[in-house]
Amino acid sequence: MTPVPRFSPDRTRTVMSSLKQIRSTFLDYFAADGHEKVHSAPLVPQNDPTLLFVNAGMVPFKDYFTGASTPPWPRATSSQKCVRAGGKHNDLDNVGYTARHLTFFEMLGNFSFGDYFKEHAIDRAWNLVTKDFGLDPNRLLVTVYIDDDEAAAIWKKVTGFSDDKIIRIAGSDNFWAMGDNGPCGPCTEIFWDYGDHVPGGPPGSPDEDGDRFVEIWNNVFMQFEKENDEIVRSLPKPSVDTGMGLERIASVLQGKNSVFDTDLFQTLIAASADATSTDPNGAMAASHRVIADHLRSSSFLIADGVTPSNEGRGYVLRRIMRRAMRHAHLLGAADPLMHRLVPTLVAEMGEAFPELKRAQAFVEDTLKQEEIRFRTTLGRGMGLLEDASRDLGEGGVLSGQTAFTLYDTYGFPLDLTQDEARRRGFTVDTDAFDAAMNEQKARSREHWTGSGQTASTGEWLALRDRLGPTVFTGYDAVEGTGEVLAIVRGGASVDELAPGETAEVLFDQTPFYGEGGGQAGDKGEIEWTDAHGETGAGTVLDVQKHAGDLFAHRIEVTSGTLAIGARAQLRSSAAARLTTRANHSAAHLLHKALANVLGGHVAQKGQMVDAERLRFDFSHNAPVTEDELARMEDEVNAVIRQNLPAETKMMGPQEAIAAGAVALFGEKYGDEVRVLTLGRALTGEGPYSVELCGGTHVARTGDIALFKIVSETGIAAGVRRIEALTGEAARQYLLAQAGVAKSLAQSFKVQVADVPARVEALAADRRALEKQVAELKKQLALGGGGASANAAPEEINGVKLIARVLDGVDGKGLRGVAEDFRKQVGSGVVALVGVTEGKAAITVAVTSDMAGRVNAADLARVAVIAMGGQGAGGKPDFAQGGAPDGSKAEEGLAAVRAALAG
Ligand code: ALA
Repeated sequence: MTPVPRFSPDRTRTVMSSLKQIRSTFLDYFAADGHEKVHSAPLVPQNDPTLLFVNAGMVPFKDYFTGASTPPWPRATSSQKCVRAGGKHNDLDNVGYTARHLTFFEMLGNFSFGDYFKEHAIDRAWNLVTKDFGLDPNRLLVTVYIDDDEAAAIWKKVTGFSDDKIIRIAGSDNFWAMGDNGPCGPCTEIFWDYGDHVPGGPPGSPDEDGDRFVEIWNNVFMQFEKENDEIVRSLPKPSVDTGMGLERIASVLQGKNSVFDTDLFQTLIAASADATSTDPNGAMAASHRVIADHLRSSSFLIADGVTPSNEGRGYVLRRIMRRAMRHAHLLGAADPLMHRLVPTLVAEMGEAFPELKRAQAFVEDTLKQEEIRFRTTLGRGMGLLEDASRDLGEGGVLSGQTAFTLYDTYGFPLDLTQDEARRRGFTVDTDAFDAAMNEQKARSREHWTGSGQTASTGEWLALRDRLGPTVFTGYDAVEGTGEVLAIVRGGASVDELAPGETAEVLFDQTPFYGEGGGQAGDKGEIEWTDAHGETGAGTVLDVQKHAGDLFAHRIEVTSGTLAIGARAQLRSSAAARLTTRANHSAAHLLHKALANVLGGHVAQKGQMVDAERLRFDFSHNAPVTEDELARMEDEVNAVIRQNLPAETKMMGPQEAIAAGAVALFGEKYGDEVRVLTLGRALTGEGPYSVELCGGTHVARTGDIALFKIVSETGIAAGVRRIEALTGEAARQYLLAQAGVAKSLAQSFKVQVADVPARVEALAADRRALEKQVAELKKQLALGGGGASANAAPEEINGVKLIARVLDGVDGKGLRGVAEDFRKQVGSGVVALVGVTEGKAAITVAVTSDMAGRVNAADLARVAVIAMGGQGAGGKPDFAQGGAPDGSKAEEGLAAVRAALAG
């Protein structure tokens, strides 16, 4: 156990109780009280498509409170990463300008899942803040929900406070809810009094928003569940959820009025000031605060698998990043700044959050690329904003269209534009901006709901409670029997299913894989005999998992009637299963090969394997080269040829990570995870690939047979996709490619191996012929057969002019002809219009003695304009241009004559 740091109860001395010490004191305190220490869940909520980011300590435990799943321990404690930016809880705009708002923070919490309730929670909380943290009870006061007499009585007993220090509050301040959906209940909050030198009143008073009384701890007595913002039921057991903002308690314990004055932030701000050679406390202090906060939220989001994009979570991240980058620009940073601060952040927080350390290289790269990208438009966007603001007076309104252009073309999130508008004393027409944005918003919502799992409906949860989990027998078998336990049709349970009908069917056990972990659900057939000896058959179209571990088979009955209680023979397509397994195992090998060849920053961003192919998405900021692809293919095929048995083992998550298993960013694992090991390392000791995976895999790597990458593309900023084939599909692909080579060889009447040389020889021939044709055209233009002497010049205003229209000669060809004519004319002007494919090209050449009198570029320009074009370019003695209308060639030359005539 870490030694308990000493906190000074006396606020007159400066005490250094660092964030690290406060975190471990809190966790150790509750661990000693029988709480399981649980590592922070990823910021991207699991199992909850209704939430953008984890925004409170209880979110990962939500299902334990509602009873949707059984908690493995009755009590837990954690320091949970939280982001409040975007969505319902959005603190983004305030950050940097107030003493307490942060987009990223840690929430310390202790949780009782139907174990202790109000009395124990209040008693322990008071003991911690007054004894272990040593806060002076005289400077603390508490609030309770308006009618929570029980909590008020407990507080009175525990603290000895008079009634005026146990303040009753009505409304949402003392009734906490996760969101419109989820567990909720009355709460009690502990406040710290910074002293009467700070303006502000106690909670419930008119000036409660001041900085004097600050909430440091919220204890929620979880009793109800909400759906669509209505309380719909009581929780199975009263529970406790608490939340103490680590940064906020640190500011109290360190005797600071602002979270930004605490040790961790001071270190980050010093790094930012150092890197920009600016004063950390001067006029630009707010910029340093914004950068320090946004560095934390961006880095942790990236480490948890979010990458900047224009939709959903990725867009919230981009807004945070760009806001920080705008402030880096304000600080005068000449080069991208944010990535240079990551090492300081990792040094401060990497120990408590190893996922940040593991992802360090990727976080740095992602920040750097985004800053480079944004810097290309930032300056021009600011220019546009400057132009648009010029005519606006004080209090003016910037048009929504300008804001949208800034957003759409220059990558300025709206809040950034508003920030800038505010600095100049005007506002933005957000209605017009919203109208232009609506379409993007709809897309964004679709995107992030789709990326989570399907919300577990009450129906599935109730079925799960009644029936227990479906047993999956398919790791080793593709066939098996199962008893029909339930049939769900149109969201309701039915007893039977007639021929032609389709429904979701649950069995006690199944060899069918339910879609998950990037592997598609199995397809296949079922047959059954019912209690009366009647038989029937159906097709399994797909299998999806609900409520965690219910396998819902989408079945269409083809004959007979399928009823609850029937025993069915379940047969998933053996052929499809074999190829799916090969594709899934190959995806693991590819994942490892990517890390070996491209580097440790490569994180899996998505995967889809089915019977046909495998698709693997990963973070990487540049296209993968042919050579890199070839090296990865070689590696994977080498491991395939090792033909070693695939090994699966069940182990605890920590044990698995210690064994070298790749823990996917953003994944949350249960008590026991399935760890799959494939092959032997190609250099050095140990296995080749170790990953956590619940999918189905080959028995030996040799079963994959062959691995072939067929495409590599970019699908979003910093995210690449590889598609590949295995086994017979890979062989067919290679056969088709070989077929193309063979038919080319036949057309050229050479051996396949000689095709490249033949193609090269043909290309060389073609180049030679093109040259010859150009030469011939030139000869023709000059009068043919060397009879160039008859190109007699005309004379205008004392200037000799050779003006010709040359059919079939392009701009390149004109150049040579013009040179020849120029030599021929001795002193004067050559104007040639070539017409190819209906278009005109003009070349004007002027002999050197005419310099100052006649300008080739001017003449070319008048000709181009006469022929319907825009302009021409070149030097005073030689200029060229093009125009769309070749039929006006003579008019072009007429324009030249007119210009010479003056
Ligand atoms: N879940 C409670 C909060 O976030 C503790 O304040």
